[in-house]
Amino acid sequence: MAIIINKDIFTIQTKNSTYQMKVDNNGVLLHAYYGEKTDNTDKSLLSYQADRGFSGNPYSIGKSDRTYSLDSLPQEYSAFGVGDYRITALRVQNADGSQAAEWNYVGHHIEKGKYAIPGLPAVYAEKEEAQTLVIQLKDADTGLEAALYYGVLEDLDIITRAVKITNQGKSNVTLQKAASLQLDWEYGDFELISFYGRHSMEMNMQREKIHHGVQSIGSVRGISSHQYNPFVVLCEKDAKETTGSCYGFSLMYSGEFLIEVEKDQIDRTRLLCGIHSDNFQWTLQAKESLWLPEVIMTYSQNGIAPMSQNMHKVIREHVCRGIWKKKRRPILINNWEATYFKFTGDMLINIAKEAANLGIELFVMDDGWFGKREDDNTGLGDWTPNEKKLGCTLKELSQKIISQGIQFGIWIEPEGISEDSDLYRAHPEWVVKIPNRKPCLSRNQLVLDFSRKDVQDYMIQTISNTIKESSATYIKWDFNRAICNKFSNFLTADKQGEFSHRYVLGLYRVLEQLTSDFPEVLLEGCCGGGGRFDAGMLYYTPQIWGSDNTDAIERLSIQYGASFGYPISAMGSHVSAVPNHQTGRITPLSTRACMAMAGTFGYELDIATLTAEQKQEIKRQIAVFKKYYPLIQFGDYYRISSPLEGNCTIWEFVDPEGKEALVSAIYHHVQANSVPIRAKVYGLKDNAMYQLSLQEYEEKQPEKLPYGFHSKELISGATLRQMGFVVPSPVNGFQAWQIYIQEKRV
Ligand code: GLA
Repeated sequence: MAIIINKDIFTIQTKNSTYQMKVDNNGVLLHAYYGEKTDNTDKSLLSYQADRGFSGNPYSIGKSDRTYSLDSLPQEYSAFGVGDYRITALRVQNADGSQAAEWNYVGHHIEKGKYAIPGLPAVYAEKEEAQTLVIQLKDADTGLEAALYYGVLEDLDIITRAVKITNQGKSNVTLQKAASLQLDWEYGDFELISFYGRHSMEMNMQREKIHHGVQSIGSVRGISSHQYNPFVVLCEKDAKETTGSCYGFSLMYSGEFLIEVEKDQIDRTRLLCGIHSDNFQWTLQAKESLWLPEVIMTYSQNGIAPMSQNMHKVIREHVCRGIWKKKRRPILINNWEATYFKFTGDMLINIAKEAANLGIELFVMDDGWFGKREDDNTGLGDWTPNEKKLGCTLKELSQKIISQGIQFGIWIEPEGISEDSDLYRAHPEWVVKIPNRKPCLSRNQLVLDFSRKDVQDYMIQTISNTIKESSATYIKWDFNRAICNKFSNFLTADKQGEFSHRYVLGLYRVLEQLTSDFPEVLLEGCCGGGGRFDAGMLYYTPQIWGSDNTDAIERLSIQYGASFGYPISAMGSHVSAVPNHQTGRITPLSTRACMAMAGTFGYELDIATLTAEQKQEIKRQIAVFKKYYPLIQFGDYYRISSPLEGNCTIWEFVDPEGKEALVSAIYHHVQANSVPIRAKVYGLKDNAMYQLSLQEYEEKQPEKLPYGFHSKELISGATLRQMGFVVPSPVNGFQAWQIYIQEKRV
């Protein structure tokens, strides 16, 4: 039993963590504990309350007890306006104009299995794998109700949170802020790890001390954004990869979000996570409800790596869906960096042919195949193949490509629309734009109003036709701008505050329909690279193009950042040409492949221009990727050394049984007379002996290989964990080594 209820105490037990809440004598739902696994006894007894001047007391209690204040109590879900002066989870405006709600416990129940959320992505599980706890809170004055949902995946150390707000009163209530999750800690010295960035340089990790005041990250861009990712870690200040305690929070939402942390006047910490309040105002009439998006949480007492591994597992197996969930994804070649907009059908067929010869399994035709689309200024919205450019129909082209022995995939950007398009001319009212105000252009394009059902239906039809006509088994779903000038012609003035969330719901509806109509088609998300890299999108698209930056060395920190919250199998990563198109950097082909193998692995270059030797090298890379794929997709991932410090980034995939591991190391630069680098290997069996080997496709090897790399030189699992092995020194600039570690019987 993962959920234990003892009178007023609700305890959730997972394999390695415990979560507890308690309804106090005044009907307030307190947060009592979340952390290392412990017993079911009442943890709220340790909560210490004192008279904190200027922290007011509820009317019924204040006269007798001035220590009882909503301003200092650890609460499970707070509301604005009635005496909690911290950041609060919910802010409403009532029919009389007041901004107040006061939560009291009214009931609870347990459900078998994991709850689902209509219209929103959510973790799913078999009935016997999960349990759901629902706790109901109510504001007695207005009748507003909050049902707090807890989904428990005991074996995975995962608890999900979601909230359904219902207006059980008679008058309208307007939600002005509605977080999905609140967590209060009465003590602890924390740090926040978050991921900031920009187009082409996403997922930069930053770690900062929680100080007094509010620290926040978020997006008001209509997408989760390149700027901040809706995944954060809150950890003890000394937490490292395999030591210290930490919490991970992943918001399953692809729109505007807000994650805030406040340390208050008595050093208590509160974390909130949910839809951003700036573009959000949602009126609930009597009996209406609104579901708030889900947050996935996990706790680890043994450092950041197990926290990441829990997130990886839950996303891989309980977020990603469809036939591609466990299947090896096809090794693809995309023509974008090979041709940009300047291609003909014959050029594509040629790339596909060369690629098929090398063992590449999927050809993806990127932007420029439709309408009047010779550059990024026109044509978006007109999803009619440009037969003049392709030299034939889309059907004929795809057949010619498929006949080379390779699958066919296609790029689309359904949410984008150019002013210079037939679709815009036919339906100017379908565009996101404030009447009488000039819209803001971005990449010279506008946005289609996905909050409208007629637009959603039109797009479902259009994309379905494209898939059918082209026999595509893969779709790259791109979106190349952020959204502003928010306004929908479909919504009345009082409902414009619902636009941003309705847009995301519309997007999810289209994706849901297409994934259920075409279960065999693999969707790859993309938003100018990683502009919408979140657990919400991964519910529909099991992989997402990580960044428009394909430079292997820049990808070290982008993919390092992403690895904290997202599985390797989700990271779209390709080998591209050198000099790299974004940075001008020249790196060895093997380094580019090593980096792309920490992802979905594919190519994005003009393969026809490569030398025979390079083509041979690609064949070897494909064989290596296929050989190690089970380790890469399903193994436990460890960050051994960070790209943000030192001279060499190292990461590891280890099989959960500890029999084998693949360690990848990429040197940032070569030094003369260099200091040896050691890699500690995790997840092996202490008592077993291991042999190390360098991948065979590395032509040049260092003059002297360290101990462990020659036959008969075995190292114990304990030694590899405690001391590590010496990484072979670099023989090239940006040298990459892939080191296979295998248990040997002695
Ligand atoms: C975005 C994508 C690229 C490419 C272009 C095409 O920038 O991230 O991979 O598809 O659009 O316009």
